[in-house]
Amino acid sequence: MIVRGSVSVPGDKSLTHRLLLLAGLAPGRSRLRGALTSLDARSTAAVLRALGVVVSPLRPGREVRIVGRRRFRRAEAALHCGNSGTTARLSLGLLAAHPFPSRVTGDASLRRRPMRRVTEPLVRMGARFEPRDVDRLPLLVRGGVLSPLTWELPVSSAQIKGCLLFAGLAAGRPVSLREPSGRSRDHTERLLRAFGYSVVEDSSGWIHFEPTGTLIPFDLEVPGDPSSAAFLTGAALLADGGTLRVAAVGVNPTRTGFLRVLERMGARITVEPAGERSGEPVGDIVAVPGPLRGTDVTADEIPGLIDEIPLLAILASRAAGTTRFCEVGELRVKESDRLGLLASNLRAVGAKAAVEGEVLVVEGGARPPVGRVTTEADHRIAMAFAVLGTVSGARVKVDNMACAAVSFPGFAETLRSITSGRKGSSPDP
Ligand code: S3P
Repeated sequence: MIVRGSVSVPGDKSLTHRLLLLAGLAPGRSRLRGALTSLDARSTAAVLRALGVVVSPLRPGREVRIVGRRRFRRAEAALHCGNSGTTARLSLGLLAAHPFPSRVTGDASLRRRPMRRVTEPLVRMGARFEPRDVDRLPLLVRGGVLSPLTWELPVSSAQIKGCLLFAGLAAGRPVSLREPSGRSRDHTERLLRAFGYSVVEDSSGWIHFEPTGTLIPFDLEVPGDPSSAAFLTGAALLADGGTLRVAAVGVNPTRTGFLRVLERMGARITVEPAGERSGEPVGDIVAVPGPLRGTDVTADEIPGLIDEIPLLAILASRAAGTTRFCEVGELRVKESDRLGLLASNLRAVGAKAAVEGEVLVVEGGARPPVGRVTTEADHRIAMAFAVLGTVSGARVKVDNMACAAVSFPGFAETLRSITSGRKGSSPDP
C-alpha cells in the first residue's frame, strides 16, 4: 500500500466543545470557523439550544454562529449528551452554578461511565444531585450559589478539570486543583486565560483559578484535531511507500504525547510549524512509512495520549518487540472498556496482546492481520482497526464503521483517499 497526499482533518473535538460552551455564556454573537461537526459536537450544540442559546446547525465547511446569554435558561426536557462524556461533564460544571434543576442523560455507553468524579467536588461546592451518591447518569443537578473549591483529582482528567474550572467560571468562585500524575490537556486553562481569568500553576502542581475575567463574544478558528490526525499518521507509517502530510493540526504539547512515543518507536515524522489558531500551536504532520520498534509508555505519559492508545496499540502490533502501556486502567471507562476490547480485538486479528493488571502488553509481528473486530460502537476502536486493515495482505472486518462519525465524520473516505493503490482490506461500510 502506498500513501500519498496532503489532507486536513475535522476540527478539534475538545476545543469545539469548550468554545461552544463558552460562546453560550458570552452574551452576544460569536462565530466559530473550522469547528467539528461530528455527533459529539452536535450533542453539545443541542444541550446549549435546550438551555436557551442560539446555535446554528453544525455542517461541515460552514461556520457556526452562536448567540450566547449571560445565564442559561431552564431546560424543559432532559439534556441528552448522546455518546459524549465531555458534553456531560463540562455541562454539569456550568449547570451546577445555575439556580434551577437540570436533568442530564446520555446513550447507553455514556450511562455506564463514572460521574462521581465530577459530582463529588460539585457537591463540595454546594450543588445537589438526585439521586444522591449515584455514580451514573441520568442525574438531576440542582445548582445555585457555589463556594470556592480546593480539590485533588482522583485521576488526571481534562474532563474533571474542565468541569470544575467551568463551575468556578459560571459561579464566579476561585477553584484550586491538582492532578495526580501527568498533565491532561490544558485547553480550558488556555481559553480562560484568553478571557482575562487568572489560571496559574504553582511549583507543586496546583492550578489556581481566580474569577478575574469576563466572557465576551469571539470569532475564532479551530485547529484540526490531533487525535483524528493520529489515525491518518498511523496509516502512513504502516504503508509500503509514499509520504503523507496532515495539514493544520493542533499540536498543543498536552495532546501530542503520541508523537513523542512514535519518535521513540523509530517513526519518521516531522512537524512543520504553521502558526496558531484559537491560542493553540498548529503544525503540519508529515509522515513517511518505515519500520517501528516496541517501547514502554510510562504512567506519566498516559494523560497526554489517552485517546491515541488504540492507534498506538495497533502500531505496536506491527513493531519489532514488545510495547507496554503502563497504568491504563482509565481506558476501562471510556466509550467502551477500551482496555479489554483492544486486547481481545488484537488477538482476534492474530496479534499477541494481554492485559496484566493495569498494563496493556502488545507483542509486535509481521503476519498480516486477519479477523473480525468488535467495536461496541466505540469510534476510536473502529478507526484504529480500520487503520490496521490497510496493511498489505490484511483482511480485517470492523463490525461498525458508522460510529467513527462520533469524532471524525468522513473518516472511511479520508482513509481510502490517502491509501489508494493499497493491497489491504477495506473497513466494512
Ligand atoms: C477530553 C478529555 C479526555 C478524552 C476525551 C476528551 C476533553 O478524557 O479522553 O476524549 O475534551 O476534556 P479524560 O480527560 O477524562 O481522560
